[in-house]
Amino acid sequence: MDNVPNKKASVESLRTEHADLDCELAGLRRLLASEFEWPALEAALSSVARRLEKHFEFEESAGYFAEVLELDPNRNRQVERLHDEHSHMRDELRKARQMIVEGTQREAIRSLLNDVLALQQDHEVRETELLIDVFNTDTGCGD
Ligand SMILES: [Fe+2]
Repeated sequence: MDNVPNKKASVESLRTEHADLDCELAGLRRLLASEFEWPALEAALSSVARRLEKHFEFEESAGYFAEVLELDPNRNRQVERLHDEHSHMRDELRKARQMIVEGTQREAIRSLLNDVLALQQDHEVRETELLIDVFNTDTGCGD
């Protein structure tokens, strides 16, 4: 009844996907910490927006946290909140692109994008924890 290998594979695949994504987001983070050139920021933002969209589609493709909700329907609000964060981050990235077009102040766009990066990082941790909690499994060291 309990398919532990599949659960472990799901947690592992989410962790791998998050690790890949983090590498890409680190480039934007570094750029924001520097005296960036606007065209470089625009290029980095386009690339991050594309990558993040691909990531959200990966997570949403089979129904966002459908397996989790099947096992524990009481997690509905938690899942809904995480899902809403995808929309929020998509909106914020669109806003950032518009700010570049409008020639917004460096500090304003830096602050907006750093907030998105911080939210994504925190969001990833909560997604992984939710999966581990509900699947009641861990793939950490010692397995
Ligand atoms: Fe997510």
